[in-house]
Order: sequence, then C-alpha cells, then structure tokens
Amino acid sequence: MQSDAPGALDASLAELIDRLPKVELHVHLEGTLEPDLAFRLAAKNGVALPFRSVAEIRAAYEFSDLQSFLDVYYAACAVLVTREDFRDLTVAYLAHANADRVRHVEPFFDPQTHTERGIPIGDVIGGIVDGLAQGEREYGITSGLILSFLRHLPVDSADATLAAAEPRLDRIVAVGLDSSEIGFPPEPFAGTFARARALGLRAVAHAGEEGDASTVVRTLDSLGVSRIDHGVRSAEDPAVMRRLVESGITLTACPNSNVRLRVFPTMDRSTIGTLLKAGVAVTINSDDPAYFGGYISDNYRAITAALRLGAADLGRLAANAIEGSFASGPRKQELREELSQATAG
Ligand code: HPA
Ligand code: ZN
Repeated sequence: MQSDAPGALDASLAELIDRLPKVELHVHLEGTLEPDLAFRLAAKNGVALPFRSVAEIRAAYEFSDLQSFLDVYYAACAVLVTREDFRDLTVAYLAHANADRVRHVEPFFDPQTHTERGIPIGDVIGGIVDGLAQGEREYGITSGLILSFLRHLPVDSADATLAAAEPRLDRIVAVGLDSSEIGFPPEPFAGTFARARALGLRAVAHAGEEGDASTVVRTLDSLGVSRIDHGVRSAEDPAVMRRLVESGITLTACPNSNVRLRVFPTMDRSTIGTLLKAGVAVTINSDDPAYFGGYISDNYRAITAALRLGAADLGRLAANAIEGSFASGPRKQELREELSQATAG
C-alpha cells in the first residue's frame, strides 16, 4: 500500500488502472440504464417515467439504503419493452465497458422484473444475447450471462422462471440471487439452486451487503455458490474470512455502491483492504453504474485512492476477477497473459 495523500490518486496508479485488462463479475444490466436512454425508450414505448428530466432523475438518486435504491431501479425498468430495447441496453453498457478496458463480463439480468410486466422471457434473453454478441464482434469482450432470481418474490416464481428459461439455458452460465437482503434469507431458494446446478449452471448469490457475515455462511451452506456478490461484511468475522480463503470463494465487491447505499459511511471505511490482507479473493465491480456514479474504472480509482492501494494490490484484484470468472480455460489463459503484459509495463 502506497501513495501519500489520502484521497489523491498517484498518476502512475491511475495509468495502471487505465491499462489493466478487466473482468467484471458484478453488474446488473438493468442498473446500467442511463437516464438519457431511459427517456428515449420511455418516449418510444409510450411509458410514463415519474421524472420530467435527466436532472430530476439524477436528483432522485440520493439513496438511504438498498431498498430506497431498488424502488427507483425497478420503476425505471418499465421503459424496457421490446427485444431491441434489451439489446440497446446491453450494447450501451458494453461501450462503457470497452472504454474501461473490460475484456470479459458476467452480467446479471432480473427476468422476473420483466416477465411480471408481461414481457416474454425469450425477448429479454434474446435481446441481451444479441447485445452481447454485438459487443464480442465489435470489442472482443467475451461474456457469460447470469439469470438472477428476485429474493423478495416467492420461491414458486423463481422455480417458474428457471423452467421458462430452460430452452435457452445454453445462453446462460449461472443463476444468481438479488434484491432486498434483510428479511429474505437464502434457505428457501436451496431447491431452486440445486435444480439449476443439476442443469449444469454455476451459482452465485448476493449476501453480506446489508446482512452481516452470518448471511454469507448461510448462503454458502444452503445454495452451493462459487461466488458471493458483495460479501464485504465477511470482514467482520475472521472465521468467515478463513472459510472464504480455504474454499476459494470469490467476493464481487462494489465500492461505489457500498458508499451510495450506505453500507459504509465513507470509502475509506470499506473492508476491501481487510479482505485483501486476509487473502480473500476479492474483486472490484460496478453493480449498478448508471445509479452509483461510475463504471468499473471509477470503482478501481475510488478504492485505490481511499485505501491507498498499490500496484501489487491492483494486480491481485484484477487477477482475482480472472480466476473467479466462469470463462473457459483457454480464455482465462488469454486474460492472464493480457494482465501480465499490463502489469509488466
Ligand atoms: N443488491 C441487491 N439487489 C440488487 C443490487 C444490489 O446491490 N443491485 C441490483 N439489484
Ligand atoms: Zn448487485
């Protein structure tokens, strides 16, 4: 850990962040819906947004906790109607990702947010897959799509969603679990996750964001996940950190999200430094970049400045994301080579 003034980012570290080949493992496609695209789609689809201008939307992005954010995030999804809308959303995210030198991404989508409004799941998945294919053609960004269940809805709804997605599972690499954490424990979803894993999917789940370290343990015990999304509150319990290290579980941390949703009062209170020191495979991600003020490089810059991380920490964070991804063996090897070139320079 280096750099002198807290909050300032050393120029050589800023350059290193720019050139790092990045793997993004925690981004919700619905959370990449920028206000200008939201207004364009609202006008095209004849959907009313509860805001009159981009400035009014930005002013509404003052959140007190996870739920206050989710209320705005779900409401804005009403503008996503056609297969082309989902493609355009995905392509717009990938343009930002490419600018940040993202080389592989495993984005989430929340099918229930759309099927509950009568949008066919085939249009949702089809549009996203079209967008991901375009991103691979234009930018060489590879991907693996994660179907995420909403934990505030009944388990039956998750089961029906998995069944509806079955004809398209060749397009999906994993299942996830997101939405409101407090009051919605992981155990009821154990059967859904077991079925998904039996169908050949990998599994990840949000935990340890608003819930404490014990929610991470309960998620590992009940869902058979190989990554925990967020998981930053694991740092409150050394035994939980040891378990994460011993079982090789990756944490997908999202620094800006944690400050904007008040998981931590300020960036320098983030537990990412503690997790790194303990040897936990933590990674840096953007979560919902249109809402939290920045894409993946902004998150790398913010955490590096606040915790005075050094070049070795940055290399470790980027390597953790490659190793924790669901990319193929050969693709991982390419990414490792790109990373070693970037860190050698
Ligand atoms: N937590 C839970 N659910 C979510 C999040 C998050 O950070 N972002 C989008 N859905
Ligand atoms: Zn998330």
